[in-house]
Amino acid sequence: MAVVANAFPIVELRNISKEFSGVRALSNVNLSIYAGECLGLVGENGAGKSTLMKVLSGVWPAGTFDGDMFVEGRSVLFYEPKDASSAGIAIIHQELSLFQELSIAENIFMGDMPATLGIVKAKDVVERSREILERLHFDIDPLTLVKDLSVGEQQLVEIARAFRRPIKVLILDEPTSALSDREIENLFSLIRDLKRQGVACVYISHKLPEIHELCDRITVLRDGESVAHLEKKNLSDGAIIEAMVGRKIEAIFPPKRPFDANREVLLEVRNLNYKDPKTGIPLLKEVSFDVRKGEIFGIAGLMGSRRTEILLSIFGALQADKTSGEMFLEGKPLHVQSPIDAIQAGIGLVTEDRKISGLVLEMDVQSNLTLPILRRLSRFLTIKGNEEKDLVDYYIRILRIKTPHANFKVRNLSGGNQQKVIIGRWLSTKPKILLLDEPTRGIDVMAKAEIYYLMRQLVDQGLTLVLVSSELPEVVSLSDRVLVMREGMVAGLLSGKEMSQKSIMERAAA
Ligand SMILES: Nc1ncnc2c1ncn2[C@@H]1O[C@H](COP(=O)(O)OP(=O)(O)OP(=O)(O)O)[C@@H](O)[C@H]1O
Ligand SMILES: [Mg+2]
Repeated sequence: MAVVANAFPIVELRNISKEFSGVRALSNVNLSIYAGECLGLVGENGAGKSTLMKVLSGVWPAGTFDGDMFVEGRSVLFYEPKDASSAGIAIIHQELSLFQELSIAENIFMGDMPATLGIVKAKDVVERSREILERLHFDIDPLTLVKDLSVGEQQLVEIARAFRRPIKVLILDEPTSALSDREIENLFSLIRDLKRQGVACVYISHKLPEIHELCDRITVLRDGESVAHLEKKNLSDGAIIEAMVGRKIEAIFPPKRPFDANREVLLEVRNLNYKDPKTGIPLLKEVSFDVRKGEIFGIAGLMGSRRTEILLSIFGALQADKTSGEMFLEGKPLHVQSPIDAIQAGIGLVTEDRKISGLVLEMDVQSNLTLPILRRLSRFLTIKGNEEKDLVDYYIRILRIKTPHANFKVRNLSGGNQQKVIIGRWLSTKPKILLLDEPTRGIDVMAKAEIYYLMRQLVDQGLTLVLVSSELPEVVSLSDRVLVMREGMVAGLLSGKEMSQKSIMERAAA
């Protein structure tokens, strides 16, 4: 179908403002979305991107915000997400919101079952789910339960949900954070197909290369205001970042530092093996390495190369009877049967999924930061209010957590700021070694840079970090050495000048 580009907008948002109990999240935002275009929506954590898209997709009902919305020139009021999806507006949310105990098909059509005379046709649901999954090149039985899927596969189901009705506008809120390179490629080619059919996309991401690859125009939000509408032609990363943060910024990564590879060994892992509890298939095979004190030890590899399993086994979170091998911490045998053992030994883990990282979403920032250390603070029987408050203020300050105050509920923080709370929470336990699994997932460029500098500062003070990351520039720029994994085996250990994205990829790809 031929599309007359930019004739008139499919969607127009005018003067959208929204407050959350006195805190302004959006101020007079204007946004137009045209048929067949991909509009990038960027901004720092907490800038209001998700909130704006929740307004457009009916998550925040009419009446809970100010301003006007038009779809194809007609004024619209959405009272629930279903109203927006009937108008052709679909959203893929940032946080996974699937029902773990239900099947893929049930999740796709949840709340929107195709019914004939009120009777849901189960066969239709399965058949239509199968078609959608095929379109996404996702080869899986729609009757599979969601709880049996990996995080990446769950994200694909979340994407599949958007396709249950005909779409005019597809909103993707950081859709690729848990996808493999191949899954991302599939998603991108699908977006390009949709564009050719005249569908508009709004793409939210902190990964600027993705924005460059997909988007025609970019709207920048800063502190709830739309500060720039940029044509993508000839636009540099620097210019986008400058619009996002409102000033020029220097280097994203701290400068490389010399590292003495002969420093004391802190953690030794010898012949680690792990078998899948269900199938018995070996997942980790004879993995051995040493981590030295004060080092940033990177672990790189493709999705599925079992990087996470290494961290989980050090943290005692894998089934002990399926694991074999030896570990030593400061020269002494380390036996971890459970995460509690690991924490007591001075090991912390920041996982890739914020919800299982021990963040208590219903509690406030202060409690989340101090929960693990309340014991220490209350050593003298009474919790010293001042000491606790000082510590909380300290972490909010050094991590630059964007929260109105310390007693703000974590659930209401932006995604990136939730991640900072988790990092702060582990730092407060003063671990010897902190394992980081994709620690900057979903975090904006500036906050990433802050976290990188913070990591460097922490290792300079003696903390040891093990870093798993799919972002190769991150691994290469931060690590003192990098272990490359391939299919559960060590495929190389790189240091100094040997560390490059190219040399990692050569070893990581089978
Ligand atoms: N349900 C809520 N209750 C109170 N405040 C909220 C709620 N949802 C969002 N906020 C606040 O509104 C502001 C905008 O948040 P939003 O989630 O839209 O940011 P974002 O741009 O999507 O950030 P990120 O890149 O981290 O996902 C933030 O200050 C956030 O704390
Ligand atoms: Mg968001």
